[in-house]
Amino acid sequence: MRLLRILTVVALSTTSCLAADLTGNWLAATPLPDGTQRKAYFELKQQDSKITGHIRVTQFYYTITESTGSPDSFTVTGTLQDGKTLRRAVYEGKLVGEELHMATRRRPDAPLTEVVAHRVPDGEGAMPARTEPPALHKVPYNGLAKTPPMGWNSWNKFAGRVDDATVRTIADAMARNGMKEAGYVYINIDDTWEGEKRDANGNITTNKKFPNMKALADYVHSKGLKLGIYSSPGPNTCAGYEGSYGHEEQDAKTFAAWGIDYLKYDWCGARNLYNEQEMQAVYQKMGDSLQASGRPIIFSLCQYGLNDVWKWGPDVGGNLWRTTGDIRDTWDSMTKIGFNQDQLAPFAAPGHWNDPDMLEIGNGGMTDTEYRTHMSLWSMLAAPLIAGNDLRDMTPAIHDILTNKEVIAIDQDADGKQATRISQSGDQEVWARPLSGGAYAVALFNRASDDVKMNVKWSDAGIKEKPRKARDLWTRSDVKITGEEYSATVPGHGVVLLRVSVN
Ligand code: GLA
Repeated sequence: MRLLRILTVVALSTTSCLAADLTGNWLAATPLPDGTQRKAYFELKQQDSKITGHIRVTQFYYTITESTGSPDSFTVTGTLQDGKTLRRAVYEGKLVGEELHMATRRRPDAPLTEVVAHRVPDGEGAMPARTEPPALHKVPYNGLAKTPPMGWNSWNKFAGRVDDATVRTIADAMARNGMKEAGYVYINIDDTWEGEKRDANGNITTNKKFPNMKALADYVHSKGLKLGIYSSPGPNTCAGYEGSYGHEEQDAKTFAAWGIDYLKYDWCGARNLYNEQEMQAVYQKMGDSLQASGRPIIFSLCQYGLNDVWKWGPDVGGNLWRTTGDIRDTWDSMTKIGFNQDQLAPFAAPGHWNDPDMLEIGNGGMTDTEYRTHMSLWSMLAAPLIAGNDLRDMTPAIHDILTNKEVIAIDQDADGKQATRISQSGDQEVWARPLSGGAYAVALFNRASDDVKMNVKWSDAGIKEKPRKARDLWTRSDVKITGEEYSATVPGHGVVLLRVSVN
């Protein structure tokens, strides 16, 4: 009798669990100031205490692989294999009436964020079906970026805060403050310009921050500058905005109609539908679409250096390709990226550049000496010079670093030969590159914190003839050269950058 009573209680509580089932499609939407919403979809199926399904949030689509509890108190863990990285999203919560109250951490070390989800119709927010990638072919070169692109991008300084007024005033600053004269021309809007929904014809739209992209392009063009934009081959961008998946040709036409001159195309949400080996075909689709748009548009591949992009970047019509993950405004991040590019030198050439990511110069996380190293290293690497600071508000020192014409001339050298490391001893490295007209650039980098006397033998830098002249591009003065080598005291975290002429 007692056993029967216990069984009845268990059966009743199981029934009450089932009555309050988590099964269904749930949406947690947080309004953003740009008029869009940050959306997280939970497509859940509950069977007794087991919960399965998917979580889709910003660029990520997780499969629920672990779950515990009941509607009164549950935990679901979604996982996603992203190349070599296993990503996890953990939500703890409970059903309260018709709402799911949950808490999660954006990163493992971040504080808990609370979200409330409501039921939405099945299928809403579902990951779109996968389209098979096209067969590979060679997209013809678009004739652009004969030297590494120079300009500005909104992400490093403004991230989601970029808007029409910021872009206009940055363009004003660039046109006025000597940067345009120094060669900077592209004003690139990064992620978070996109509207939440496409229009009735499937055209991509802008959000509140960008009321009229065509008018903005006209404005930027009126300053003698060019406008860049950002999208993704996936359904979502990295920040979770609308991507170009399934609309590649249409979006390329829209960009061309707006007057866009540069597209940064960021892998992000594409990882949910394609593997890394399919990347080339996926990028080729946009390469073809840009060409079909009829407008000359620089094609910038942003996929963090995965799948040896430097080997196939030119074949998809790419003018530049990211070789690494995202840069941060720290000495550690900048040097780890910059000094790690040696092996990629053979892949840089006019029209096709390795991109170790945008500049952090002027963003405040490094000293002026360190920013001079950043500028010198990127110029030695023939890297795109895309400033990432607030051009409206720079110290004279930062302005001087970004606009040093003799340093920029190294970056922009017509031969486009990326520097290689010619010697290394502990924290001291010498890099060199041949320049057009028989000159050379030689950079003595001191990665240690204390000043150090460094030496370079001209012949080690590939200089066979006797140098006639060597100019220090930061002190803007000729240096004395005698004999077969050169030595100088290089400040801690600093550089001596020379242009050496032999005729
Ligand atoms: C990725 C890119 C960044 C930036 C952000 C925007 O992280 O690598 O450069 O474009 O996305 O969301």
